[in-house]
Amino acid sequence: MITMVPVLLILSGAVAILQAELLPAEKFLLLPPVNFTIKVTGLAQVLLHWEPNPDQKPRNVNLEYHVKINAPQDDDYETRNTESKCVTILHRGFSASVQTILWHGPSLLASSWVSAELKAPPGSPGTSVVNLTCTTNTAADNGSSLWPYQVSLRCTWLVGQDAPEDTQYFLYYRYGSRTEECQEYSKDALKRNIACWFPRTFIQGKGRDWLAVHVNGSSKHAAIEPFDQLFALHAIDQVNPPLNVTAEIEGTHLSIQWEKPVSAFPTHCFDYEVKIYNIRKGYFQTEKVTTRAFVSIVDDASKYCVQVRAAVSATCRAAGTWSRWSRPLYVGFSG
Ligand SMILES: *[C@@H]1O[C@H](CO)[C@@H](O)[C@H](O)[C@H]1NC(C)=O
Ligand SMILES: *[C@@H]1O[C@H](CO)[C@@H](O)[C@H](O)[C@H]1NC(C)=O
Ligand SMILES: *[C@@H]1O[C@H](CO)[C@@H](O)[C@H](O)[C@H]1NC(C)=O
Ligand SMILES: *[C@@H]1O[C@H](CO)[C@@H](O)[C@H](O)[C@H]1NC(C)=O
Ligand SMILES: *[C@@H]1O[C@H](CO)[C@@H](O)[C@H](O)[C@H]1NC(C)=O
Repeated sequence: MITMVPVLLILSGAVAILQAELLPAEKFLLLPPVNFTIKVTGLAQVLLHWEPNPDQKPRNVNLEYHVKINAPQDDDYETRNTESKCVTILHRGFSASVQTILWHGPSLLASSWVSAELKAPPGSPGTSVVNLTCTTNTAADNGSSLWPYQVSLRCTWLVGQDAPEDTQYFLYYRYGSRTEECQEYSKDALKRNIACWFPRTFIQGKGRDWLAVHVNGSSKHAAIEPFDQLFALHAIDQVNPPLNVTAEIEGTHLSIQWEKPVSAFPTHCFDYEVKIYNIRKGYFQTEKVTTRAFVSIVDDASKYCVQVRAAVSATCRAAGTWSRWSRPLYVGFSG
């Protein structure tokens, strides 16, 4: 967000203003922060911490900091705090820089940078898992906990192309401050773990935090590269289909009704799609609705197949995917 060229141009102006208005006698110099550290505080999560430079004078100015993440992915922001939490993959290492800045009206003064890095964890190339995919699903709790809904998690992956035959993989997830290791793996023919199932998790049905997944491994013949991936819940949630779909024909009216799917989201959070297949004429009608009922004018000599599917609407969460279709219901003339 701050490019070097304008900063340098503004800088000379700001020094002049500061010297003129605030610090007539002293040459003003911003000093970089000290003791900049990067600490891993959780799976795919680091804490950056620094201290104001103890030699900075004058001390009563409103210092801020400009943080630049260099790896694994460029990012750039300003803060008044002396620490900052980052959620990011860590298997390729992590590096960041910070500088002291001072806004003076529209002008910006900046110190030199201090940097720190975490090295990528060791491992032989081609040994980490690939094509990691995860999905979540919500079930009604059967009454054994305080929460009305439970979110399950399923992840699958492929064995790294150059992973030795004795490689074993281990999967962990973090949601918020909770981390769990997989207890239920599926295995390939060489007994290597290639999928994991968590019947219940700490993931919240309406949660907006990132889901962090870490897969590491061990082998007698090679160091296995770990692999991290962050998932947005709205993108991996498999919404349940609508419940209790009913359909009846009276005269030329086909009336379809259903209930909201099992979900932590309330009734107003769903969009539905109704699919009506005219079996005799062989054509589909598909309608998008936001209510839990739909009436279609039909030809009473035909037989129909009705299905409904659901998605969490954009008013409640970022766009995700449609549920499966409900089981087909057949109504109408059957002679
Ligand atoms: C920086 O770290 C050193 C060594 O740990 C410590 O002695 C010093 O007080 C720290 N400086 C600040 C400003 O926190
Ligand atoms: C794994 O992912 C790669 C690239 O994302 C893709 O080309 C490949 O087809 C995937 N393999 C399988 C078996 O899904
Ligand atoms: C509720 O489900 C859990 C596992 O999901 C099971 O262990 C427990 O026995 C069930 N309780 C009841 C009352 O059905
Ligand atoms: C895998 O990662 C977990 C969680 O960070 C760690 O506790 C465990 O020691 C690691 N195992 C291997 C084999 O690296
Ligand atoms: C669906 O129908 C069943 C049986 O008729 C009923 O017990 C249940 O409460 C209904 N579910 C909803 C969400 O209306």
